[in-house]
Amino acid sequence: MMRTHRCGELNESHIDQEVVLSGWVHRRRDHGGVIFIDLRDREGLVQVVVDPSTPEAFSLAEQVRSEFVIKVRGRVRRRPEGTENPNLPTGQIEVLTSELEILNRAETPPFPVESDIPVSEEVRLRYRYLDLRRPEMQAKLRARRDIVRVLRRFLDEHDFYEIETPFLTKATPEGARDYLVPSRTHPHSFFALPQSPQLYKQLLMIAGFDRYYQIVRCFRDEDLRADRQPEFTQLDIETSFMDEHDIMALMEEMMRRLFREVLDVKLPNPFPRLSYAEAMRRFGSDKPDLRIPLELVDLADLMQAVEFKVFSAPAKDPAGRVAALRLPQGADLSRKEIDDLTKFVSNYGAKGLAYVKVNDREGGREGLQSPILKFLPDEVIESILERTGAQTGDLIFFGADKARIVNEALGALRVKLGTDRGLVEEGWRPLWVVDFPMFEWDEEQKRWVALHHPFTAPACTIDELQADPGKALSRAYDMVLNGVEVGGGSIRIHTREMQQAVFRLLGIGEEEAREKFGFLLDALKYGCPPHGGIAFGLDRLVMLMTGSRTIRDVMAFPKTQTAACPMVDAPAVINEEQLRELMLQLRKPPRQRATERSESAAG
Ligand code: AMO
Ligand code: AMP
Repeated sequence: MMRTHRCGELNESHIDQEVVLSGWVHRRRDHGGVIFIDLRDREGLVQVVVDPSTPEAFSLAEQVRSEFVIKVRGRVRRRPEGTENPNLPTGQIEVLTSELEILNRAETPPFPVESDIPVSEEVRLRYRYLDLRRPEMQAKLRARRDIVRVLRRFLDEHDFYEIETPFLTKATPEGARDYLVPSRTHPHSFFALPQSPQLYKQLLMIAGFDRYYQIVRCFRDEDLRADRQPEFTQLDIETSFMDEHDIMALMEEMMRRLFREVLDVKLPNPFPRLSYAEAMRRFGSDKPDLRIPLELVDLADLMQAVEFKVFSAPAKDPAGRVAALRLPQGADLSRKEIDDLTKFVSNYGAKGLAYVKVNDREGGREGLQSPILKFLPDEVIESILERTGAQTGDLIFFGADKARIVNEALGALRVKLGTDRGLVEEGWRPLWVVDFPMFEWDEEQKRWVALHHPFTAPACTIDELQADPGKALSRAYDMVLNGVEVGGGSIRIHTREMQQAVFRLLGIGEEEAREKFGFLLDALKYGCPPHGGIAFGLDRLVMLMTGSRTIRDVMAFPKTQTAACPMVDAPAVINEEQLRELMLQLRKPPRQRATERSESAAG
């Protein structure tokens, strides 16, 4: 028998039992004639004692090193008084060994599994199977297992079918680049890996399945960040005959169940809802972190007539915004700190970061300190102080520009100040963001783009939509948790006429629509039920629930920041034979061509 128990599950109830354990040597210590081994498996660590009264086991124990795989037989006993380890779940007991067997040896690993000395992510990912042995990584994947279990159980109880959809498919417009796969049987044609199963799940509703879910990989070639990976997992959901309120209510219930069962946390019932417009106005973001008690305040009406052009120009521009962000007790920020924050907001396109220090609220102009005071009349200054609720010791920041830039800059500044100044409140603050605009105007391309995806239903008629596309709201909803967009969905268009109208507004002509989405337009002709759904970013949810810094920490085999895998060394070049089979020829990358050109010029 290889084992009777797992290491980490032993406790005082097993005292005096004989057990067999198999696992990895986490650490070995020689204590003058007695050898202590911390034996590790999936469930945790237990202390194994080998003493010289069992000479055979003892001489083997002398040979073992970190990460050897061993099997021990022994008796569980209470640890002698004073040697208990309150930090270890098995810390009250130990196993006195009678037999020991070395199942496999291990070379010295490239980094110690048993300590948390920092190791570069490149090395961690190259030896991911060792990295994953670390107890905290085991705990994260265990949490992921627990989370998925609860979600599946909930959806099963609510009559959802789990249905798989293809990976080899056609472009799915979710706003990123596609990963493409060349077809051998159709030379010069390519499959696209799905950015989401969006259209398939809608077709499943048309097929009558009513309630669908899938825990599914999605592929997006986009710039990577802490919460973005090129392949990631969605909990993807679609339902028929439910409106947005029904869907939001059901999804909230699922989240409340999830947090209660996994973290013993009670989420609010119902979740608060915020319109997109209000979220942008108050937080400069459509995924506001409600744990941060700072808010933006609009000032445009006060700034129309001031001489300071930096403020008056955007105040008069319908696409502009002038807003303030008050930092309570921020007047102690140094010049250097303010300069650094100015640099920070410049990453979001802000051309500066005006501020006013409120040294004495009652002192009028004299009580303030600011490079822009001289541009502002007394009554404007007083209104700013009143409107922001300024108090002695506060600092007020200003943003003035196109609304998009002010929102991004002050929105990010709000989060940064909240974090840096320790203002983030404890706990969980979920919300729904609703009433998104259908479209956004893309200045560069001079055309409307869908804020969600082109299959999202508007909250108005075709005529109203066409009359003023910029005004139309959609029936979309995002679930936001502590500043992270954990899920997003919508009620879908279910008539062909509306779908065609939306394609037209997006600049997708008849022919292009037919070529890209003909199958959908056809399907809409044959009795499509009203339907809608949502997709959750499962990795993001697990990241939040495990308190991880990035989604890479909750994925078994993530990619690096440059979308590669150093362990299997992917992506990799393919050979001539494969290229020939696929009828493909490689072009030289632009940089190599440039080097060759300059070399031949030099030669
Ligand atoms: P959306 O594009 O908003 O919607 O994606 C849904 C959720 O998936 C997560 N997510 C990501 N997680 C990690 N890495 C990424 N690169 C990444 N991109 C997105 C986010 C996001 O909220 N088909 C629609 C859903 C629908 O309408 O039902 C869709 O894919 O948490
Ligand atoms: P200037 O007149 O350019 O020296 O700017 C005066 C102050 O206004 C400085 O503190 C700048 O950082 C700030 N400032 C400049 N442009 C902006 C802007 N678009 N939004 C907010 N503050 C700005």
